[in-house]
Amino acid sequence: MTDKTTDMAQREKELKELEAEVLQCRKCALAETRNQLVFGEGDPHAEILFIGEGPGYYEDQQGHPFVGKSGQLLDRILEVCGFSRQQHIFIGNIVKCRPPDNRAPTPEERAACLPWLYKQIDLIDPKIIILLGATALNGLIDPKLRITKIRGQWIAWQGRLVMPTYHPAALLRNPGMKKDAWEDFQQVVAKFREIVDPDHHSDFC
Ligand code: URA
Ligand code: URA
Repeated sequence: MTDKTTDMAQREKELKELEAEVLQCRKCALAETRNQLVFGEGDPHAEILFIGEGPGYYEDQQGHPFVGKSGQLLDRILEVCGFSRQQHIFIGNIVKCRPPDNRAPTPEERAACLPWLYKQIDLIDPKIIILLGATALNGLIDPKLRITKIRGQWIAWQGRLVMPTYHPAALLRNPGMKKDAWEDFQQVVAKFREIVDPDHHSDFC
């Protein structure tokens, strides 16, 4: 095995171990009502980490992130950007257990779950982080920032570049916001070419 494949296997193993730890987590009450933990998934060496809010109904049933309606739109966005869940990206959430009735996670639930996300970020070590919506922005960066004001602007955060953009569910509710979102993702592709792969192919250009 090359160093790269050894390192891949190692990181995959560490992520699996972390997932086993998160499975035991009872730091908030969401663990009592969820069906399945949604740890997140993707390329263990992803250069881009997507962060959503938390599992919804289908994610909670299946144990995978973004598999419902929002996930279908996210997949379409990824396809246009030339990214795949297997190769370039990892998808996680602010909270890993579904809040009942699709409510947003409370500040206490977010705070209880955040250390797990920090560990995922440390292990995966992405260069770029995409924050999908207000909960991701407020949970990871600053509770006072407004997604509608700050979207589309790179934030330098702990040695990484963070792009806040709208949550796919917001785009489904407000199709008029899609134009802005496409501009945000064009910036992401441009940055990916600049700092990761100059030959990256996307349907944007
Ligand atoms: N919405 C989210 O924020 N995360 C998911 O995993 C699915 C839907
Ligand atoms: N409001 C939200 O909560 N999320 C978005 O992405 C946009 C508006």
